[in-house]
Amino acid sequence: MDLKQRYKQTFGDSEPEFLVRAPGRVNLIGEHTDYNEGFVLPIAMSQSLQVLAGASGDGQIAVYSTAFKETVHFSADDPGPPSKPAWANYVRGVAALLSKEGILLKPGKLLIHSEVPIGGGVSSSAALEVGTALALLTLAGKTMDPVPLALLARRAEHQYADSPCGIMDQFICVLGKAGHALLLDCRSQTYEHLPIRLDRTTLVIMDTQVRHELGASEYPMRQRQCREGLAELRESYPEIITLRDVTKSMLEPFEDKMDMDTFRRCRHVQSEIARTQEAADALRAGDLEIFGQLMWESHESLRDDYDVSCVELDYLVEIAESVPGVYGARMTGGGFGGCAIALVRRDAVGQLRSAIRRQYDSRFNEPAIVYTTTASNGATVRKL
Ligand code: GLA
Repeated sequence: MDLKQRYKQTFGDSEPEFLVRAPGRVNLIGEHTDYNEGFVLPIAMSQSLQVLAGASGDGQIAVYSTAFKETVHFSADDPGPPSKPAWANYVRGVAALLSKEGILLKPGKLLIHSEVPIGGGVSSSAALEVGTALALLTLAGKTMDPVPLALLARRAEHQYADSPCGIMDQFICVLGKAGHALLLDCRSQTYEHLPIRLDRTTLVIMDTQVRHELGASEYPMRQRQCREGLAELRESYPEIITLRDVTKSMLEPFEDKMDMDTFRRCRHVQSEIARTQEAADALRAGDLEIFGQLMWESHESLRDDYDVSCVELDYLVEIAESVPGVYGARMTGGGFGGCAIALVRRDAVGQLRSAIRRQYDSRFNEPAIVYTTTASNGATVRKL
């Protein structure tokens, strides 16, 4: 059944008035750097979350999720505090924060359908926040600039989903541009769209289908370790504000002084920020060999220094490394499951797929889901 029909069936024959598309994201490089005010280099995926929406007359905002197969209602005047079910808190959160901004929300019916795998490390949550924020704004006859919209969506995630994420996911979701990656400076929140010339190259996503619970507690722990490392570094360098300001030569002498875990966390952040800038240069120069090399190095650093990888991700990257024609591969997103990505010569994609099927799928219970994506536009609203 197509989505319009589904909408009619769910909401008693009323017609949707417009469609919002909010893409998932793949970060090419620059992992766990956003909350340290570093650089990130994500793309908006071609796979997106869709919100079909229309007005309603009953004072309520009704939200149906095709993934969870349930409808949640809340008052347009008062969306209320976080409650159950958890998925609806992203919607409730953006609604509450839009109200707080002085936007008079209008009652409406929203049907949400996600092509972005939920909880799969490609930021279905930012797509949900941005997609529903745009739908609620459109119903209210309002618009919001991309950067304030991204920041509002991120506040919703902090306050309503209890996840202290950085700014990357929401920024790329609103600022994605077809054929381009987004080089985002997470300190100044300024950005540059860099063309990706992938004539004979494909971006392959390899989803482990594994979602390790550990991620939820380890993410804030990494943030704490970064703050601890920063505090120690500041005793010698009072001028630094975040790990963004630390250079390799400043950090090196601390190897013997700092707690080893804290030191390794800092080393990852410092080296990853440097790699992201180098990767941006490689993209500008169209040098995929260098870009790929930086991806391998990023993965090693996330695995060995930041400790956010897992056996499944490591194995996918190891398999990718053995296939000729793969420029580079790495885990993407927060880690502890989710996806790895690979930059692959188009004629080698089949070989990568069969290597994964042969080696990965026979080792783990869940097979890896392998698909391709392209750099696409950020969220859009279209009248139906
Ligand atoms: C998650 C967060 C992002 C970012 C990544 C790691 O996806 O939502 O803000 O910190 O992890 O790079």
